[in-house]
Amino acid sequence: MSSLPHSTTLPALQQPPWADDGVVDEVERRLAGLPPLTTPGEIMMLRDRLAAVARGSALVLQGGDCVERFEESASGTVRRKVRQLYDLSALMRDRAGLPVVTVGRMAGQYAKPRTAPMERAPHGELVPSFRGEAVNSFVADLRLRTPDPWRMITAYNCARLVLDTVRETWQEGPPGLDPVFVSHELLLLPYERALRRGVATTAHLASTHFGWIGERTRDPGGAHVELMRSTGNPVGVKLGPGVTPWDALELVAMLNPERIPGRLTFIVRMGADLITEALPSIIRKVRDADAPVVWLCDPMHGNTFSTTDGIKTRSLPIILREIEQFVHVVSKNGGWPGGLHLEMTPDPVTECTPLLPGQGVPEFPDYRSACDPRLNAEQAVMAVEMFLSARAQIRKE
Ligand code: PEP
Ligand code: CO
Repeated sequence: MSSLPHSTTLPALQQPPWADDGVVDEVERRLAGLPPLTTPGEIMMLRDRLAAVARGSALVLQGGDCVERFEESASGTVRRKVRQLYDLSALMRDRAGLPVVTVGRMAGQYAKPRTAPMERAPHGELVPSFRGEAVNSFVADLRLRTPDPWRMITAYNCARLVLDTVRETWQEGPPGLDPVFVSHELLLLPYERALRRGVATTAHLASTHFGWIGERTRDPGGAHVELMRSTGNPVGVKLGPGVTPWDALELVAMLNPERIPGRLTFIVRMGADLITEALPSIIRKVRDADAPVVWLCDPMHGNTFSTTDGIKTRSLPIILREIEQFVHVVSKNGGWPGGLHLEMTPDPVTECTPLLPGQGVPEFPDYRSACDPRLNAEQAVMAVEMFLSARAQIRKE
């Protein structure tokens, strides 16, 4: 049963404009009666593994789609995604000679925060923005884009199917690698609250193994941070370029006052231009406070831009530059660059461009993402290789 006070008075940002709160309450009640998706044993095992990363003796590879689609719950699709994660982790492990914790953006990545509430459909009509299939349809139609709380039940069922396949792969993973864990952005409060299980010291989010709070919802006084304060899962927070060292310490105080290694991960997404200015003082402040934190680099979300045709893309050379700078900045300021958080797919898509902005006209013959542009398999390998070679360079210096 959900044990969080049902309606918190704290500001809850990025919640869809549901038409009828009564229906949302009914969906939350039903979700609260459904079985947990993950177990406390799995969650604690991941926290343990992440503790080794916080101490500087292991690495993390976290990745997957920007947003999952319901139709991608079939076992073959999930297996291909898991295979990509394992392959990248094995590359990291072999080249770095360290254990690697593998975490998919999957089995629950069905809700998206949006900057603009409305967007222009291809036929010119203004429609509500796509917020992930847990909220509304990808089809740009006024009626189908109206937030429908019942979709959260479908999201739960799809997450369950995806996890069933993920669990099957646990038996088949490459030798020497831990099982792949799952994660998603903790965005929809009725969904997450309903899947919060256990009480007091045993409370945990049974919707996933690891959840992160996004750049737009990380206000220490907001409902998303409050939700995670009283749960034992490992939790991540995205840090954009506007974060100050004091903001970071406040998040530590809220989310990991007991300084448990593996509990708190900061996912840095500042953009290649701003990371060298904004990150050093944050790393030092957290280090001086003796707060054990896993530092991950999300080189995707600070580097998104639109082409003159209005296509959302990211430039691979800029992504690689942010990874290199992340490794340097974290290491030089006394931290441990813990790994990568990538938006990627095993499919041969062309969503991130090999060109720099303004350099030629990028082409996108195979653009499939329902939200942000992802790295294809080859580009994801290049991201991991950049992380590894930047590490190797630091170790030589
Ligand atoms: C995301 O990870 O898809 C996302 C929305 O990230 P951020 O909160 O960093 O913008
Ligand atoms: Co994204």
